[in-house]
Amino acid sequence: MTIQTHLNKIQTINQGSFYTPDFVVEIVHSMLANHIKNTKDYILLDSSCGYGNFLTLQGFKVRIGADIDKQALKQARENFKDFTQKPLLLHTNSLHQAQRQKFNLTQNDKLIIIGNPPYNDKTSIVQNHLKNSDCVPVDSHLKARDIGISFLRSFDALRADYICVLHPLSYLIKESNFKSLRNFIKHYCLIDSIIISSAIFCPKSMGFFPIIIALYKRDNQGMDYNFICDFIFYTIEGKSFKLNDFDFIAKYIDKYPNKKRVDSRQKVAMFYTLRDINALRRSKTFITKENTNTIYVAKEKYSLYCYVDVFKMMITHIPYYFGNCDILIDFKKFQALESAFIKASESKILSPEIEDYFRKLLGKHYED
Ligand SMILES: C[S@@+](CC[C@H](N)C(=O)[O-])C[C@H]1O[C@@H](n2cnc3c(N)ncnc32)[C@H](O)[C@@H]1O
Repeated sequence: MTIQTHLNKIQTINQGSFYTPDFVVEIVHSMLANHIKNTKDYILLDSSCGYGNFLTLQGFKVRIGADIDKQALKQARENFKDFTQKPLLLHTNSLHQAQRQKFNLTQNDKLIIIGNPPYNDKTSIVQNHLKNSDCVPVDSHLKARDIGISFLRSFDALRADYICVLHPLSYLIKESNFKSLRNFIKHYCLIDSIIISSAIFCPKSMGFFPIIIALYKRDNQGMDYNFICDFIFYTIEGKSFKLNDFDFIAKYIDKYPNKKRVDSRQKVAMFYTLRDINALRRSKTFITKENTNTIYVAKEKYSLYCYVDVFKMMITHIPYYFGNCDILIDFKKFQALESAFIKASESKILSPEIEDYFRKLLGKHYED
């Protein structure tokens, strides 16, 4: 349908107004069609609808769109002016008093929520200079570090029967994010999904991260983190993986400042904080000047930090969909090559055996 044109760069980032291209809307539509038989019994709601790209689908009892941005809704009304059945469009902050009533829904309505809610990690340093900290009011139980997490919690508050939305994969695969979804994970189970790259929204961006198009069904069991670790994720490029296929560095070393536990006299080197693979793409590894992000490296862990340093040298071979994972490791094979990793890190020269290690570690995921 339409690409957002009415906001400048700063407003776009603050409101998370990256509108969804048609081929992605189509994927959402076919996911719903594959899993839900009588869509005519359901009301379709996009509580952050923008120009209404997701509301073009027919075959529902009623379609409702809501957005906080008046200009966007004006364009949405224009886009639907020739439709015989127009969606109901509401100008509202969907995170304030987020109850069925405000969206004209009764307690008994069967509900499907779709869309691409905004996400904006307020604590992330990327583009921070553009982010606005004076936020619109948000119900206290929905308040979270990231507005996308607040939206997912609001879908639970609305008791949607199905939810089919785009959101960063990191909400599921980072355990702290996953837990911060609170009641959402108690009441919803992931039943279908596909991963796409953030490049489709911001092709000029410095780096890309994985976005999941996820279909959730409300049930009494919900999901725990083990369910996510065992879940097979498929990517739009035809790849698949599960977290349990890999071992991760966090099991073996400190990723965050450890000065309280490691005595500075024991340190043989210092390392920069390690958040995930994407952060490593941008950040330093070994550092000489101490700051608040410094990790002390004890002698017995030195080779593992060299491993991370070498991993960064190989980072162009890691696909975007692992961007929010921890650094991957095959610990046994690493042990066999321990001195080669130290040498590669210190000399900045990759030997054929190290390159071979990464080809095998990544297997079908290795990018040439
Ligand atoms: C990523 S865009 C998605 C728009 C549309 N669903 C699409 O995919 O094309 C996110 C939308 O959320 C809206 N938004 C941001 N905060 C909101 C809030 N608190 N309540 C309602 N809408 C909000 C923005 O104005 C923007 O239109």
